[in-house]
Amino acid sequence: MKKILLGLAVLAALGLQANDEMKANMAEMQNGLKSIQDGFSYNNKDGILEGIAKIEKANKMFFDETSAGKFLPAGKKRLAKVSYLSTRTLNSSLKEMKQYVEAGSIIDASDSMAGVMRSCTRCHAIVRGW
Ligand code: HEC
Repeated sequence: MKKILLGLAVLAALGLQANDEMKANMAEMQNGLKSIQDGFSYNNKDGILEGIAKIEKANKMFFDETSAGKFLPAGKKRLAKVSYLSTRTLNSSLKEMKQYVEAGSIIDASDSMAGVMRSCTRCHAIVRGW
């Protein structure tokens, strides 16, 4: 009995940890998105680049199908691959935006925002049943 309780406590702690890590990373993604938008609005290219780096760092928690599928609701686990793909398109949109900013093509950089938002929403739509 004791062992079972201990096992459950450990599992619960691990679950909480995973959840905390996810929440912290999502807050960081939101932060990054805000830096990017502020950068476009307030004439701050470095702010855009900082925002991109923040999101890229937070997105590192999704490195394969298993890590991306972990947070999907039980009935949606089969969409782990789509969820993982959204993390890849997120990275490529960020990379594209960064290259445009560095090349001084700011309007093209702002177009990359659609790809970023689409990637966030692609995963959220699965998670939230939108
Ligand atoms: C691979 C999946 C995935 C991607 C990609 C993703 N998210 Fe999330 N996000 C989640 C999950 C899972 C939750 C938690 C469930 C919920 O809030 O519906 C979440 C929740 C959030 C929350 C709410 C957190 C809270 O504490 O309530 C924010 C803010 C957020 N995401 C921002 C973003 C932004 C911004 C991006 C893109 C730059 C992004 N997410 C991309 C999976 C993802």
